[in-house]
Parts: sequence; structure tokens; C-alpha cells
Amino acid sequence: MRKFLAVPLAAVAFLSFAATITRAQEVAQTPPMGWNSWNYFASKVDDKGVRAAADEIVSTGMKDAGYIYVNIDDTWQGKRDENGVLHANEKFPDMKALADYVHSKGLKLGIYSGPGNLTCAKYAGSLGHEEQDAKTYAEWGIDYLKYDLCSFREDTMAKQAPDDKAAQMKLMHAAYEKMGKALKATGRPIVYSLCQYGWDAVWEWAPALGGNLWRTTGDIQANWNSMYTILSQQEGLQSYAGPGHWNDPDMLEVGNGRLNIHENRSHFSMWAMLAAPLLAGNDLPNMKPEVKEILTNKDVIAIDQDKLGKQASRIYSEGEVDVWERDLAGGAKAIAVLNAGSDRVATHPFHLSLEKLGLHGPQKGKDLWSGKDLTLTDNMPIELASHDILLVRIGANGQ
Ligand code: GLA
Repeated sequence: MRKFLAVPLAAVAFLSFAATITRAQEVAQTPPMGWNSWNYFASKVDDKGVRAAADEIVSTGMKDAGYIYVNIDDTWQGKRDENGVLHANEKFPDMKALADYVHSKGLKLGIYSGPGNLTCAKYAGSLGHEEQDAKTYAEWGIDYLKYDLCSFREDTMAKQAPDDKAAQMKLMHAAYEKMGKALKATGRPIVYSLCQYGWDAVWEWAPALGGNLWRTTGDIQANWNSMYTILSQQEGLQSYAGPGHWNDPDMLEVGNGRLNIHENRSHFSMWAMLAAPLLAGNDLPNMKPEVKEILTNKDVIAIDQDKLGKQASRIYSEGEVDVWERDLAGGAKAIAVLNAGSDRVATHPFHLSLEKLGLHGPQKGKDLWSGKDLTLTDNMPIELASHDILLVRIGANGQ
């Protein structure tokens, strides 16, 4: 009798384990979209600010455009109690109530931690409390975790394997795997975002650990050079992106710092071309209309969210102009012509080569920033302001 029961119970346990895995893998079938507190608010994030961001996401139409995750970055953590359970600090009086509020708006809540003792801003990390923290997040109703390497380098990697790079990398993999398993074990679908700045070709091993996205570089800053450097570093990574697992060139700086309108448009267009997570990082309650217009351009977002999930490649560069191409579902394509130079191209005219893009004959499409129909022809002159972009959708769905 005992034996008879044991088999079905094992089968039930296995099936529910398999269901958990399937659920976890189903998240992020398209690149996650939402907002994150760090790029603008940094340590000034609090409960009130997160609620305000959620309200704005709804009232500005960002939610309708696809922005769903409201992500609290570093500096929310308080102290662990006598049982090791981590509580939020005084800026977040009731995390569960905050999650309920965000969920009531049809949005999801994200949070931040790291495998070390301390996070980058020196708040409590998850070292030695991984399962416990994952459970806490699930109990609160968290839907997304950004897990940032930071002090794990000194806490563990440098201490346990001094001067042994390979052993240090193994420790890092194990740390990310541990949290990946802990999240899965909660049974709650939680997007798992790895943040370790692209070390050790993270794109090669992150998906196997349950990673849904992984930072490919160091931190972005709100200026052209930072954005363009990061963009250029995405070349060669396109084969690693796809439904459920994405390269993350870092959160958006659209509307922040010294980026002008052309630069904001180019940054947003190129992140869409890269199938990058679109996590706005600006001050939503004080967003300028032109910034809102960029962040809610549905045609550009449709490129990012295209269900094929194919990241763009830089097909060629001429002078300071880069031409990128991305395949889209249904045989359509997106083409971006970016003037990375600081002068108008009129000083060194640019002509688009359809041949280099593997295209034959005139290509009917739509200019996604003017909203107008546009036909690309071979050798057509394209004049762009400094740091501006032409983003065109051609083919089946673009006509
Ligand atoms: C690191 C990350 C940033 C941000 C900060 C918070 O620098 O790369 O995105 O999360 O930590 O301290």
C-alpha cells in the first residue's frame, strides 16, 4: 500500500515542480518594460515616489503602451530580525501594501538585491539568506528581482579564491544559480535580472541559471558617449537574445541628464532595435511632453516587443553613420540609420546602400518617428542632424 501511494505522490511532486519551472520560464517572453527608480532618484526612492510612478505610468498612457514593471532599485533594505528575515527600511513602511497598490493598477512590482553582504549602495545583500529573501519577496508579491554583484566580489570571490580568476568566476556562477533556484522554488513567476556588468560572458551561461536578462556592460549615464559606447558593445551578442532571455544594455536614460531630443530618440530607437528591456529611468511626475511622446511611441515599442525576439545587427558604417537592421515577425524588417557624428552629415553626404542590407528594389515602409509612409530606394541620400536617427519599418507588416 505504501509503495502504491509513493509513486503517484512522487509523480504529483514532479509535475508541480515542472509546472513551477514552466511558469518561471514563461516570464519575459518579450523584453520586460517598465520603470526603475535608480537612474533619476537613486537613494531618494521611497514608498510615495513608487506609488507616484505607478500612478503616472497609468495616467500618461505608458501602461497602455506596455510598461508594466515598477522596479525599486537599491536603498530600500532595512535590518534583518532575529530570524534573519529582512525588513524594508523606514522609506518603505509596508512593502506588501505597496505591492498590493501597484498590482491594483494592473502593474507589477520589482525589487533589488545582490549575492554579497552588501549591495552597491551598502545596504543589506542576500548572502547566506538567499532562500529566505526569495520567500520574503514572494510573500510581498514581488514580480521581478535585479540581482547585483557588487560586494560579492570582495566578500566572497576575492577572499575565497585570491588570485584565481577561474575559481572566482565559478563562485559568481554558483551565487547567481543559488538565487535562480530560490526564486523558482517560491513557485511565483519572478523575472530574474542579472546585474554583474557582463563579466565572464554572462550571456553564455545566464539562461541556464534561469536568468531572463543580464546586464552586458557597466552602468549607463545620461550622456551621448555613455549611451553610444554601450550600444557599440552590443554587437556580436545578438544570437544570445530571444524570448525569455535578453541582453540588457542597462536601463533607459531617456529624459535624463544632458540628452537632447535627437539623442533621446536615438537612444530609445536603438534600445528597441536591440530587443532590450525598456525600463524608463526618468522622473515620471515631471516628464516633459516630448519625452512622453518618445517613451510611448507605439510603433517603436512594437519593434522592441516583436515576438521573434531577434536583436539587431550593425550591417555597416560609413563615416559617422551606422546602419542597423533587425528581422521582425511576418517577414518585416526594421532599419535604423544613426548619425553618431557631432556634425550634420551634409558635410559628408550619406547615401543608403540597399545592396549592403541585402534588399533589392525600392522598399515601402513607414518612418516611425514622423509616422509617414516612406520608400527606401538604393543610394538615396539621407541627411540627419547630429545624433539623430531614421527608423523605418519595411515589409509585410510595414506596408
Ligand atoms: C550598480 C548597478 C546600478 C544600480 C546601482 C545601485 O551600480 O549597476 O544599475 O543598481 O548599483 O546601487
